[in-house]
Amino acid sequence: MTVRISPSILAADFTRLADEADAVANDADMLHVDVMDNHFVPNLTVGLPVVESLVKNVRLPLDIHLGVADPDRWAPGYAEAGAGSVTIHAEAANSPVRTLRAIRAAGAQAGLALSPATPLLPYEGLLDEADTLLVMTVEPGFGSQKFLEFTLEKVRQAREAIDALRRVSGRDVPLWLQVDGGVNESTIARCSEAGADSFVAGSAVYAADDPAAAVRALRAKAEDAKFVVAETS
Ligand code: DX5
Ligand code: ZN
Repeated sequence: MTVRISPSILAADFTRLADEADAVANDADMLHVDVMDNHFVPNLTVGLPVVESLVKNVRLPLDIHLGVADPDRWAPGYAEAGAGSVTIHAEAANSPVRTLRAIRAAGAQAGLALSPATPLLPYEGLLDEADTLLVMTVEPGFGSQKFLEFTLEKVRQAREAIDALRRVSGRDVPLWLQVDGGVNESTIARCSEAGADSFVAGSAVYAADDPAAAVRALRAKAEDAKFVVAETS
């Protein structure tokens, strides 16, 4: 069973970003970068210049999570800069279909994120426009928050919707179901059982003594949980 682990540099040492990225480069699948603008979320992180430097100096594909107002305006620039994936928030986008298409046209995978209070249903029809559906498991804005259990129901709904899309449209391009926020060794198995296959982890990786070992441990737990579900269903 394939899963993706994407460590979030929000929990890393921002004065040593290249080293912090290197620490997980052999074990992670992507590097998650939270771009926050103090408008869509009450926190301010990094923008395009830092992402451009990371693209040049980091081996992993960058998984850009845009916690910004007006992602329709900003998202294509991150794709053009060479990001592997660019995720926009449904709540912030005025034209999500156009923007997801623009991200793909610029050569990146396109992601659509839903904050905890946002239902999946209005966006189900758009899923074929995306390569990732991100179900936020905390309110976006900060690392180290407590995992919101109620979001697991939306992960289950999303898994059903994605599997149905594959059956109905015959889609064979991957559509990752990502979770972000409070994902750690005690919550990742439940996310995986609910159907997630892409996992962002900030503090669970970068607060650990050995970030690479933390990535391996998270991957093992996510894969084990899938194996148990497959065995029993
Ligand atoms: C929160 C961010 C997350 C954050 C997760 O708004 O989107 O990517 O880094 O941090 P942890 O894993 O510590 O909850
Ligand atoms: Zn994030």
